[in-house]
This record gives sequence, structure tokens and C-alpha cells, in this order.
Amino acid sequence: MKPSFLAFVALAVSWYAEAATYSRTESLFGQSFLDAFSWQAIPDPTHGRVDYVDKSTAENDGLYSVSGNTLTLRADNGTVLSPSGSGRKSFRLMSNETYTTHVAIFDISHMPEGCGTWPAVWFVFILYIDCTNTVHEVGQNWPNEGEIDIVEGVNNKVPNQSTLHMSANCAMPSSRWMTGTSLLNDCDVSTTGNQGCGVHLSANDNSFGPNFNRNGGGWYAVERTPTHVAVYFWERDCSAVPSEVKDPGNSVDPCTWGTPVAFFPSENCDFATHFGPLNIIINLSFCGDWAGSVYSSSGCPSNCVDYVNNNPAAFANAFFEFNSLNIYQ
Ligand SMILES: *[C@@H]1O[C@H](CO)[C@@H](O)[C@H](O)[C@H]1NC(C)=O
Ligand SMILES: *[C@@H]1O[C@H](CO)[C@@H](O)[C@H](O)[C@H]1NC(C)=O
Ligand SMILES: *[C@@H]1O[C@H](CO)[C@@H](O)[C@H](O)[C@H]1NC(C)=O
Ligand SMILES: *[C@@H]1O[C@H](CO)[C@@H](O)[C@H](O)[C@H]1NC(C)=O
Repeated sequence: MKPSFLAFVALAVSWYAEAATYSRTESLFGQSFLDAFSWQAIPDPTHGRVDYVDKSTAENDGLYSVSGNTLTLRADNGTVLSPSGSGRKSFRLMSNETYTTHVAIFDISHMPEGCGTWPAVWFVFILYIDCTNTVHEVGQNWPNEGEIDIVEGVNNKVPNQSTLHMSANCAMPSSRWMTGTSLLNDCDVSTTGNQGCGVHLSANDNSFGPNFNRNGGGWYAVERTPTHVAVYFWERDCSAVPSEVKDPGNSVDPCTWGTPVAFFPSENCDFATHFGPLNIIINLSFCGDWAGSVYSSSGCPSNCVDYVNNNPAAFANAFFEFNSLNIYQ
């Protein structure tokens, strides 16, 4: 072999090794998790029966708490709402940092449950300063920078899914390296009524809602590279959870994690023109475009808005409990 070819092989091997291994840039738990996010007291773009509060309101009303390494984020569970007043107080947190190529591992021990709830952990491009130093407002450029929903579902039961919501000319191949089941393969929000290309996490009933909580939760992880987005889930007592996910250290190599639950490759979707840097959003909405529209078919009582208004105690379990969030780049 020619030396130049050997050098090329060596370079390719080291490049591959570098590309597959990520180094930890943030280790967030308890107070540091809370501090890395901003509270967004904004109207819900998906028309939920929700009142996203600012941090001091949340503090006064006991809507968040830090206990050791655990961060709890909850909705109000004590107020009967006036039908003409604002919605149920809840949280919408946005990471201060944005992310491009990275791995994020969420250790979650509880997620909001209950009729009318619509919890989500997702990535979207929110604040964006362009080359003329103009700051673009919340969501103004959506979906041109892409949206990755890691875990999302409504009313406890209907599709627990991972989804991309994208601009035009972005599709997924019908056959993919994943355990989940694809719903639509067109990711374009304009041709799918904003459904995007979702994947049901059908392999695991403990991935969402009351089952997830009874089981002690688990780990959700996402890897985003220039050529794919992969979402992983392991339930709490899963023996196959990689040790670097269970006990996060200074580096991870998702190539060793096995088959993702959802996989979104770039072959029919040019990531360079469809994805920008994204913030992490953690929010809990009620009713609204999705949870509200499928409410009655979910076996929930009364109608969604009345139920959310009149039954504060039904939202005692409408909380997220995070053990940690580790980010690798
Ligand atoms: C994140 O942003 C919020 C709101 O601007 C700020 O209060 C907080 O200090 C920031 N966190 C960090 C770690 O810089
Ligand atoms: C809350 O999350 C859902 C995703 O489940 C999103 O569609 C909705 O717009 C979010 N609400 C806000 C205000 O971000
Ligand atoms: C998650 O979605 C799958 C596919 O629709 C379903 O079979 C499963 O029951 C769901 N799990 C929960 C907890 O809702
Ligand atoms: C209701 O919310 C408060 C915080 O506002 C919390 O301390 C309490 O534990 C919640 N109730 C239940 C039954 O979870």
C-alpha cells in the first residue's frame, strides 16, 4: 500500500473515533439544572388551557423545588379556575444554551400524568440573532431551523412519540434502523398539518405516562449529528442500559448503545439547510391543539377545559422530576 493511502486510512479511523465520542460539557442536576434554564411566561402557541408563569410566581406558588439532586417542576394543583380567567399555572423552561452536534441524556423519574395533560421535552430554535444583530422573537423562524420532539404525548395514553417538525423538502426513508414505528415519513409541517414525521415508541409501554412513573421512569437520550438524529429510551430497571447512561461520566459513545427507538437520517433531508442551533424546552400544557382535540377519545371525563378548570386535585401528579441532564459535545 502506498504510504499516502495508509495515512488516509489512519486519518479516517481517527476522524471516525473522534466523531463517535463526545465529551461532557454540562452536568446538570438539582439547582444547576434549574439555573441553566429560563422561565418563559408566554402565551401557548398551541392554544392550551395553560398559564406559563415566570420564575418568581413559580417560586411563590411552589411550582418548582430542588431536593438534593432532584428538580421537580409542577403545575398548580390547588386552584379552581374561573372559565373567563387564565389557564392552569404551569412551566415552560428553555435552556440558555443552544446545541448543534451533541448528545443529551435526561434521567427522568416522573413525568406529568393526568387527563388533559400534554407534557413534552423537546428541542426548538427559539432565540436567534442574525448576522445584522437582529434578535428574532420566540418561534418566529419556526420551523426553518427544525424541531426535534424527544418525548411527547397527551392524556396519559395516546401516542407517546418522537417527532421532527421541519420545513419543506424533508422526508424520512420508510425503512429505518429503529425499534419504533413510523407514522408519517414527510417531516414538512406545511403538508402534514404540523404533524411532522413521528415515531411511536411502540416497543415499550413503560416509556410514557402512568406506566413510566410506576416503573420509576428511565433515561431518554438524543444524539444529533450533521447526518442523523437518534432518540434512545431505557426504562429504569432495564438491564441493557449502557453504564455511561446510567452513571454519566466524562464521555459517551452512542455507537455502542444499540438500536435507537427513533432514527431520523439526513438522506432525504439536508440537515445543513433544515437545522439550526436548538434550545431545549421542557413544558407542560393542558388541552390545546393536540390534547384537547383527542380528549374525549382518550376516555377522559367531561370536556378538557372544564376538567382542567374544575379539578385541581386531578393534577397532583402533573409534575416532572429530573435526576440529571448531561450534555456532551
Ligand atoms: C439563564 O438565563 C436566566 C434568565 O436570563 C438567568 O437568570 C440565569 O442566570 C441564566 N443561567 C446561567 C447559568 O447563566
Ligand atoms: C408545549 O409543548 C408542545 C409540545 O408538546 C408544543 O407543541 C407547544 O407549543 C408547547 N407550548 C409552548 C408554549 O411552548
Ligand atoms: C405508547 O404508544 C404505543 C403505540 O401507540 C402504545 O402501544 C402504548 O400503549 C403506548 N404507551 C403508553 C404508556 O401510552
Ligand atoms: C400540590 O402542589 C404542592 C405545591 O404547590 C405540593 O407541595 C403538593 O405536594 C402537591 N400535592 C400533591 C398531592 O402532590
